[in-house]
Amino acid sequence: MTTQPRNIAFIGAGNMTQSIVGGMVASGYPKEKVFVSNPSPGKLEKMSIELGVTTSQDNAEVAKAADVIVLAVKPQLMADVCAALRDEVPGLDSKLIVTIAAGIRMEKYRQYLGDNIRMIRVMPNTPSLVGKGMSGLVADAYATADDKTCITEAFDGVGATLWVADEDELDILGAVAGSGPAYFFEFMASLQKAAVALGFDRDKARTMVQQTALGAAEMAIASDLELEELRKQVTSKGGSTAKGIEQYQAYDIDKISADAVKAAVQRNQEMAKLF
Ligand SMILES: NC(=O)c1ccc[n+]([C@@H]2O[C@H](COP(=O)([O-])OP(=O)(O)OC[C@H]3O[C@@H](n4cnc5c(N)ncnc54)[C@H](OP(=O)(O)O)[C@@H]3O)[C@@H](O)[C@H]2O)c1
Repeated sequence: MTTQPRNIAFIGAGNMTQSIVGGMVASGYPKEKVFVSNPSPGKLEKMSIELGVTTSQDNAEVAKAADVIVLAVKPQLMADVCAALRDEVPGLDSKLIVTIAAGIRMEKYRQYLGDNIRMIRVMPNTPSLVGKGMSGLVADAYATADDKTCITEAFDGVGATLWVADEDELDILGAVAGSGPAYFFEFMASLQKAAVALGFDRDKARTMVQQTALGAAEMAIASDLELEELRKQVTSKGGSTAKGIEQYQAYDIDKISADAVKAAVQRNQEMAKLF
């Protein structure tokens, strides 16, 4: 840990909070500095017993105790949750506000919480739930270097972190990494169906596909080579892989991905206007 651990309060004890807090505690964040609130008690009890963090059914109580407030409720609840915090928690300007909600822009939080807040937006993705997340982060002009280090370390506990320049880039990251698990599942399911169509049973086909996906991802992470170069290295000229790749290229896989990412970016921008 490179910064002094701060008191950090999570508002909402859903799947994401449970994973992030689990990752933080496992990587050495002092549990006595972590606070979590949620309306229903079941998740709080579980987190208190399993992780040793302090819990409350009162959002304001944990927010008052914290230097960093992580907003982790569904986007449609955010305005109400923030309005209550603004009414009940003095000194919000002196705390760092972090949000993981999809689609709500920082200017909105200024309307919800006041013009003088300093904040960081994080876009985690679903594999954070198994510690293999890809989180995008963007800070406003007021967040300090220490703020950024603190939040990077928190989200490194559930995978990798990548800072982007602005919220437009965060929309792009969301369209690649946030939506990306669905693209990969779609592709994996199609390979599974191809194997089943040729006589494999579903379970064996799934084992083949998921282990291959894992192996390819780990090879990519371990290598300095360009992804295209790695692809070439497993594609002998005139061999069976080359024949398979020809089929993907015939359908212009680059265009499919480009169109998919553009469509998802556009949808992210449309959804931001809903809040
Ligand atoms: N899951 C993902 O992969 C993912 C990825 C990127 C971003 N996000 C964002 O992360 C946020 C949380 O997602 P999630 O998947 O963790 O959702 P979730 O599992 O549904 O958790 C949301 C939690 O908020 C609690 N809650 C409801 N009303 C509240 C209130 N007034 N005050 C405090 N807590 C309240 C809910 O409690 P009860 O169940 O007791 O009602 C629930 O435990 C969302 O904004 C989502 O957009 C999630």
